Amino acid sequence: MYFIANWKMFGGVNSLNSLDKVIKFIKSFKKKKLIQIIYCPPNTLINLMSRKFRNININVGSQNCHEQKDYGPYTGSVNCRMLKNAGAKYVIIGHSEVRQSGESNDLINKKIQTAIKSGLKVIFCVGETIQQKRKKLTKKVLSKQIKLGLNNVKNKKNIIIAYEPVWSIGTGIIPKPLELLKTINFLKKKLKYNKILYGGSVNSKNINQLKSIYNLDGYLIGGASQDPKKFIDIIKKTYI
Ligand code: PGA
Repeated sequence: MYFIANWKMFGGVNSLNSLDKVIKFIKSFKKKKLIQIIYCPPNTLINLMSRKFRNININVGSQNCHEQKDYGPYTGSVNCRMLKNAGAKYVIIGHSEVRQSGESNDLINKKIQTAIKSGLKVIFCVGETIQQKRKKLTKKVLSKQIKLGLNNVKNKKNIIIAYEPVWSIGTGIIPKPLELLKTINFLKKKLKYNKILYGGSVNSKNINQLKSIYNLDGYLIGGASQDPKKFIDIIKKTYI
């Protein structure tokens, strides 16, 4: 199971102290071989974090990247080569908060291609808005996002899919179990060889309900991942 922490635009150098608890927990966790933890902090913390996790099986990723493989005159941007150099092994691409600021499926596709070529693994986010859900367009939207996002991507084995309904992110609302089960099944059929995660308001309370979705391969956790106790609780409860 994957437990991916998306810190979004939160955290400074001092926040790394809170990871001591997570490291201590993992060292003593009996099921540690069954899990893969990936922390995606702001880019400013990638290098420090990857050093912090040097002796433990926790990986670090970025939350976005530029689509160009090489260096270039793109003020304010960071490409995969730089992320890798800083210690990232993964990159989140297509998060709805980035899509909302104008990121198209075509741009997402370019970013995925570049990330794979650069040797980063991709956490590819897909999900419908509440309006699309109300119109029963979920499958159609997901199909389109996947088709365009993965267009001409040859090597798909290093891509993890995160199903994140936009209406679940940061709202405290999660899909109904049967609804989620069906959507994950739908994605599994489409992407037979990829891990499929769920993201959107995952916390230490609703994890009991979420873990009953037997075909999930893990979670992308935003808000609750910033608090080590809550994050550890989610992992523990997944295995109780
Ligand atoms: P949330 O965020 O857990 O705070 O809802 C999830 C995400 O945006 O990846």
